[in-house]
Amino acid sequence: MNAHALAATAQALVADHKGLLAMDESSGTCRKRFVEQGIEDSEAMRRAYRELLITAPGLAESVSGLILFDETLHQAHADGTPFVALIERAGMIPGIKVDLGAKPLAGHPGETVTEGLDGLRERLQAYAAKGARFAKWRGVINIGEQLPSRAGIAANAHALARYGALCQEAGLVPIIEPEVLMDGAHSLARCAEVTERTLQAVFAELAAQGVLLEGMLLKPNMVTAGAASPSQGSLEAVASATLACLRRCVPAAVPGIAFLSGGQSPELASAHLNAMHQQGPLPWALTFSYGRALQQPALAAWNGQAANVAAAQQALLKRARGNRAACLGNYQQAA
Ligand code: 13P
Repeated sequence: MNAHALAATAQALVADHKGLLAMDESSGTCRKRFVEQGIEDSEAMRRAYRELLITAPGLAESVSGLILFDETLHQAHADGTPFVALIERAGMIPGIKVDLGAKPLAGHPGETVTEGLDGLRERLQAYAAKGARFAKWRGVINIGEQLPSRAGIAANAHALARYGALCQEAGLVPIIEPEVLMDGAHSLARCAEVTERTLQAVFAELAAQGVLLEGMLLKPNMVTAGAASPSQGSLEAVASATLACLRRCVPAAVPGIAFLSGGQSPELASAHLNAMHQQGPLPWALTFSYGRALQQPALAAWNGQAANVAAAQQALLKRARGNRAACLGNYQQAA
């Protein structure tokens, strides 16, 4: 493991108040998003959409790195230039989602464990050879009356740490993503309790597996009430509950925390990040690694039409710039 190189990459991903664009939807999830929008799904359409995102002019001013799906890592611009080369030329860092999805956890109805550890060492070597410099693995924790169980949290924390150690062995910075889902009507306090238990378990496993904290990034959920809860917290309440949880659980040796958006609207995801930056100082860089909250307006503007590419790119840039402003505490809703 080259600790220095890993730490340099991790720092570069969160430097200068920039964040990450998660565009690593599996082909199945991408199809779902296209169908919701009435867009025809095919490999050619997915390639065209990803080309639009990658080539948005000036994206690198707000975005440090892009998380790709396997298919996209192997695709190229219509002019033949590999996407990885285009990303590097623009001054951004290519990354790759390497988990194989959340599967039912045996004996624990309603819970999942993320799979993909078998053969991961070889896959990581191939991804590194292809130009990926960081990776992502998402563990999923569901809140229910009796959930999550200790077993559900432990299984996901263990897999995240095994993945993290393998990434660092291969020279890739692991993004450790334990996502406590927003699904349900639970309170903000309940999300805080479950997120705290989850992060404590994750960092205990990272220590047990010898993962270098300086050479990783954390991608957590924000602490919010469940999406179906009638009482959603204020921006300040979400920000202070999230920061309290992170301050308790995430060592200052971790260079950066980059949130997922998890189903929040694009505006709310930016406003929450902004509110946190008004409650500093913080021991780590705190930024975004949004999927839907960056892409939704761009996907809607594109609508599968080549004539809409420029408008879609502008919609992406507006969200990316807004989130960078949020990292400076300067986000304005209408901006
Ligand atoms: P969302 O921001 O849409 O939650 O996606 C982020 C991500 O990478 C999920 O794994």
